[in-house]
Amino acid sequence: MKKLLFIVCSLFLIMSMNAQKQIKLNAPNKSRGTTVMKALSERHSVRDFSSKELSLQDLSDLLWAANGINRSDGKRTAPSAMNKQDVDIYVIMKSGAYLYDAKNQALKPVVSKDLRGDVAGGQDFVKAAPVSLVLVSDISRFGSMASKEMNTIMGAVDVGTVCQNINLFCAATGLITVPRASMEKEALKQSLKLTDNQILIMNNPVGYPQK
Ligand SMILES: Cc1cc2nc3c(=O)[nH]c(=O)nc-3n(C[C@H](O)[C@H](O)[C@H](O)COP(=O)(O)O)c2cc1C
Repeated sequence: MKKLLFIVCSLFLIMSMNAQKQIKLNAPNKSRGTTVMKALSERHSVRDFSSKELSLQDLSDLLWAANGINRSDGKRTAPSAMNKQDVDIYVIMKSGAYLYDAKNQALKPVVSKDLRGDVAGGQDFVKAAPVSLVLVSDISRFGSMASKEMNTIMGAVDVGTVCQNINLFCAATGLITVPRASMEKEALKQSLKLTDNQILIMNNPVGYPQK
C-alpha cells in the first residue's frame, strides 16, 4: 500500500512539474524606444540571433506592441478588417507554445513542446532565436458575407500589419527580427491544434543580436 502511495505521489509530482502554466506578462512600458522616424531608419531584417532568453519585460512589451489592447473599448495596436480581430499570436519558445491573451496580458499554454524547429522550416538560424511569434488569421471570424479568397486576403493584410508592428518595435528597442513566410505549416497546424480556417501566414523570430 505504502509503495502504491509512493508511486502515485511521484507520478503526481512529475506531472505537475511538466504541466505548462499560464505566464502572466508585465504591463507594457509605453515610454520606451526611439522615435518613429529613427525606428523606420533602423528597420531591417537580421538573422544572426543570440540564444539569450528574452526578458519578461521585453516579451511583454513586444506582444503588446504587436497586437495589444491600446484603448478602453478593447481595440488593438494593429487595425483589423471590419474589427473582426482575426489575428492570433502563437508564442513559440523552448519551454513550449503559448497563445497571446491580449485581454489579460498573459500567455495561455498550448503545448509543452519546443516547436522552433517547425517554425525554422529549413532556415536553421530560427532555432537559435529564443522566441518566434507565429501569426495566424482565423478567417472564420469574418463570417460568410465575402468569399473565402477575400477573407484570406483580409487575413493576410491584418497579419502583415501585426508583423510590421513587430518589425518596428524591434527596430526601436534594439531587438532583432526578420518577417518570414517559411515554416512547416502542416506540422505546426497539428501541434497548435488549428482548424482549417486558422491560416498560418507569417512568423517573426525575435531575440538579441549576437555580440
Ligand atoms: C511576406 C514576406 C515573406 C518573407 N519570408 C521570408 C522567409 O521565409 N525567410 C527569410 O529569411 N526572410 C523572409 N522575408 C524577409 C525578406 O527576405 C526581407 O524583408 C527582404 O530581403 C528585404 O530585406 P529587409 O527586411 O532587411 O528590408 C520575408 C519578407 C516578407 C515581407
